Amino acid sequence: MSETVLGILASGRGSNMQVILDNINAGQLHATIGIVISDHANAKVLELAAAAGIPAVCIERKNFGSKQEFEAAIASEIVNHEVQLVVLAGFMRILSRYFIGLFPGRIMNIHPSLLPAFPGLNAHDQAITYGAKISGCTIHFVDEGVDTGPIIMQSAVEVLADDTPDSLSARIIKVEHALYSKAIGLYCEKRLCITGRNVKIIEG
Ligand code: GRF
Repeated sequence: MSETVLGILASGRGSNMQVILDNINAGQLHATIGIVISDHANAKVLELAAAAGIPAVCIERKNFGSKQEFEAAIASEIVNHEVQLVVLAGFMRILSRYFIGLFPGRIMNIHPSLLPAFPGLNAHDQAITYGAKISGCTIHFVDEGVDTGPIIMQSAVEVLADDTPDSLSARIIKVEHALYSKAIGLYCEKRLCITGRNVKIIEG
């Protein structure tokens, strides 16, 4: 079976991208990273990709007259690199209906809470402020809302009484790292079946 080509969109640190790459290199995830795209020139994810010899580009919103032109530039990199699955890994922009329509059922995101609780920015802070005892992470397909698309996998993490956003984030990110490659692997094996809001995982 040929390997699924991933296109990773990330705005910052890139730890999820690095773990996906490590799992590919370890033979645990049968995929290749065709391109890494960041909207920030100084994002660490670009350094990590360059160090690994992966094609990486910076596409900044400020260089385009409209959001659609900006997204069209991203889409063209994705198409040119024959990407099959777009993986959002800390990409801090809301994608438009136009962009999502170009890749239906082919964009995944990871969010550091148990959706539908605490969508959007500052999910760890939201969970602590709300007084939640459990949070975690969610991997979902992307639709036109903010963190609203069909849920693929979730994993729970306890919120401790003395947690700060940083301490909770440090525990949730470990779970994110373990889960994202699993979800991507299921996609690569064509084992994710979307029906409306429901994602069924087909037995392997
Ligand atoms: C992760 O917490 C992810 O859930 C959120 O952004 C963060 C990205 O972290 N969407 P990293 O850049 O992968 O280290």
